[in-house]
Amino acid sequence: MKKILIVGGAGYVGGVIVDLLLKKKYDVTVYDNLLYEESFRKDCKFIFGDIRDQDFYKSKLNNFDSIIWLAALVGDGACSINPNLTDEINFQTLKKLIKIYKKRIVFISTCSVYGAQNGILDENSDVNPLSHYATSKLKCEKILQDSNSIIFRLGTLFGVSDNYSRIRMDLVVNTLSAKAFFEKKMSVFGGDQFRPILHVKDVARAIEIAIRSKKQGIYNLSLKNMRIIEIANAIGKHFKNSKIIKTKIKFQDARNYRVKNDKARKELNFNAIYDLSFGIKELKKLLTEKRIKNFNDPRYTNQKYLELFKEKI
Ligand SMILES: NC(=O)c1ccc[n+]([C@@H]2O[C@H](COP(=O)([O-])OP(=O)(O)OC[C@H]3O[C@@H](n4cnc5c(N)ncnc54)[C@H](O)[C@@H]3O)[C@@H](O)[C@H]2O)c1
Repeated sequence: MKKILIVGGAGYVGGVIVDLLLKKKYDVTVYDNLLYEESFRKDCKFIFGDIRDQDFYKSKLNNFDSIIWLAALVGDGACSINPNLTDEINFQTLKKLIKIYKKRIVFISTCSVYGAQNGILDENSDVNPLSHYATSKLKCEKILQDSNSIIFRLGTLFGVSDNYSRIRMDLVVNTLSAKAFFEKKMSVFGGDQFRPILHVKDVARAIEIAIRSKKQGIYNLSLKNMRIIEIANAIGKHFKNSKIIKTKIKFQDARNYRVKNDKARKELNFNAIYDLSFGIKELKKLLTEKRIKNFNDPRYTNQKYLELFKEKI
């Protein structure tokens, strides 16, 4: 069975990919520096390490048939804390990898590279990165251009990943669901901004297709495009005693874009299958069973957590 290295596999997205690939009997190894975790207890091969460590690039990486590259500082806020560090972790490391690794790379980028634009965007549309995060991902996309790689530009993810890894509460559907549950109100700034959204479990499905496929290049991945206010309304239906507070204050996050997924549908036969209400229901279960004690704990929010520990990264 194919040997797969999942770099950054202890995170929100990594958790569900590891589970799916193990279930499909791939030979999986996770490499991660456990930035947000105290332990990695999943029954899966694990190497503790940092992608900035030179020894990583001297190891026998070409023994792996595919590398899934997830490790990064993730999110606009987290990446703005120290732009040089963001460049070092998100971009310089990939530059080193492509010099020595000659097999298949599955790279995870973001639809944030589109920034704020009208129309429904495809992979050939102009890009307009508005943050250090999006810029770092775009630089990675460019250097991967001539390699055997596939790049997924993901919409904003939602839902529960696996049973072990930290859930991210800094993603719009997850945040608003937690606010609806704990605070009985969802503050929506503006609300007209569009976001493509995608369940985290669908990312795992797409990645599994990618390691079987020979296709290369960039693919948008999303379930659908929704306005933030539509997302809040959908969540409100599941948390009946919550209300939406709409404010006209201009939210500092100016991102506003819609994408199409035709390329992934046609070339990879990929269709998202987990809808928004599935995601909200599983979040509601997690919250009502009190499995998240305090969603405001910094560990659930990349930016807040990294601000606390920035000297140690
Ligand atoms: N969650 C989303 O909405 C979303 C959307 C688009 C793209 N992505 C991309 O998907 C990937 C995974 O995102 P996520 O949501 O799981 O984020 P995450 O922050 O939960 O996971 C990142 C993982 O990378 C590891 N990591 C970070 N720096 C490292 C280093 N120097 N060395 C080794 N490991 C390191 C962390 O320990 C963590 O396990 C990222 O590349 C991200 O840009 C995520």
